[in-house]
Amino acid sequence: MSIVRFKKLNIEAYKPGKSSIKKFRKIIKLSANESALGMSSRVKKAISSKGLNFFRYPDGKSKKLRSQIAKKFKCNKDRIICGAGSDEVIQMLCQLFLKPRDEVIVPQFSFLMYRIYAKIVGANVIYSRETNFKVSVSEIIKKVSKKTKIVFLANPNNPTGTYLTKFELIELRKKLRKNILLVVDDAYAEYMKNTDYKSGLDLFRNKQNVFILRTFSKIYGLSSLRVGWGYGSKKIIDALNIIKPPFNVNEVAQKAAVESLKDSKFISRSIKHNILYAKKLKNFLNKYDISSNKVSANFLLLNFTKCKFGARYIYKKLKSKGIILRSTEDGYKIRNMLRLTIGSKSENFKFMKEVEIIFKK
Ligand SMILES: Cc1ncc(COP(=O)(O)O)c(C=O)c1O
Repeated sequence: MSIVRFKKLNIEAYKPGKSSIKKFRKIIKLSANESALGMSSRVKKAISSKGLNFFRYPDGKSKKLRSQIAKKFKCNKDRIICGAGSDEVIQMLCQLFLKPRDEVIVPQFSFLMYRIYAKIVGANVIYSRETNFKVSVSEIIKKVSKKTKIVFLANPNNPTGTYLTKFELIELRKKLRKNILLVVDDAYAEYMKNTDYKSGLDLFRNKQNVFILRTFSKIYGLSSLRVGWGYGSKKIIDALNIIKPPFNVNEVAQKAAVESLKDSKFISRSIKHNILYAKKLKNFLNKYDISSNKVSANFLLLNFTKCKFGARYIYKKLKSKGIILRSTEDGYKIRNMLRLTIGSKSENFKFMKEVEIIFKK
C-alpha cells in the first residue's frame, strides 16, 4: 500500500510560555516577555478607526511601515524586510542560506526558533557553550568549521537575560570568517539602557555580513499582530523578497506598527517602568536567595540554586494562585531556574505578595 510520506523531523516543537490555567478565568501571565504596559493608546485608536476594511489584500511590500521604520531608525528602507513576527524573518533566512548539512551555530541557551528553522531545512545545529549563562565569543569561534553558514545571536539573550557588550560583539564579528552571516537579534534592544551595550543595528547597519532582527512584539506591545523586521544588505533583502510569502504582514499589523513607532512617550514610559520594576523585583527576590542576571531586558532569569525552595516548587505554588512564569526546562533544558517577565505595577505587586506568602509558611 502506498502512503504519503513526509520528512522525518527530529525536532522538538516550540512550546510558548503558558497563557492559561484551568479554573482561572483571569491569570497573571509573566511567561512570554510581552509588554508590561500593553499597547499604546495611539495604536488602539488607529486600529479601532472606521477606516479599516479587510476585503483587499494588504500591501505586500509593507511600504508605509518600511518608510516609518527607516525614518525612526535612520536606515535605508530598501534594506528592510517585514515579516509576520521576526519569527518569519528567521524562517526566511534559513530558507535562503541553508542547504542540508550546512552548519549553524547557536549559543547553548538561545531563543529556540533559530535551531527549529535551521533544522527544518536540514542544517546541522552546533551549540556553543556559555559561561555563567552568558554567550562566549571564544566558544562560538571554536565551533566554526568550513560548513558554518550562520551564527545566530540574540542580544540581550532570551532566556538568560545576559548580553555581549559593544566590544564583545565587535570582537565576535571581527573573528568570524567573512562568508559567515552573523544574525544579531535585537528583539529587546529598546529596553537596554546599560552603558556598555549597543544594539546590532547601531553597530553593524553597514556591514554586508551582518543581518539584524527587530520585533514589534516586545516594547511596542503588538505580539498578537505578528510583525517584525529584518535589516540586511540590499542583495540579501532582494533575495528574501523572492521567497517571502506575498502578503505576509496583514493590514492591521502594518497600521499598528506604524503608529507604535510614532508614540515615543509610550516607549519612554515602558523603559522607565521596566527599569524600575526589574530592579525592584531583583532586589526583592534576592532577599529569598533567588538570584538573577543584571537588569537588562524586560525579564529576569531566576536562579534557585541557593534558595531553600526549588524552581519547580515555586512555579507550582505561583500557578496555584493564577501566576504563570516561564519554565526554562521546556525547550531550553535549564534546570532549577525560571524566567520572569516584568509585569504591570499591579501584577508585580501581586507576584511579590504571593512569593512572600510562600516563604512565610
Ligand atoms: C530573542 C527573540 N527573538 C525573536 C522573538 C520572536 O519575536 P516575534 O514575535 O517578532 O516573532 C522573541 C520572542 O520571544 C525573542 O525572545
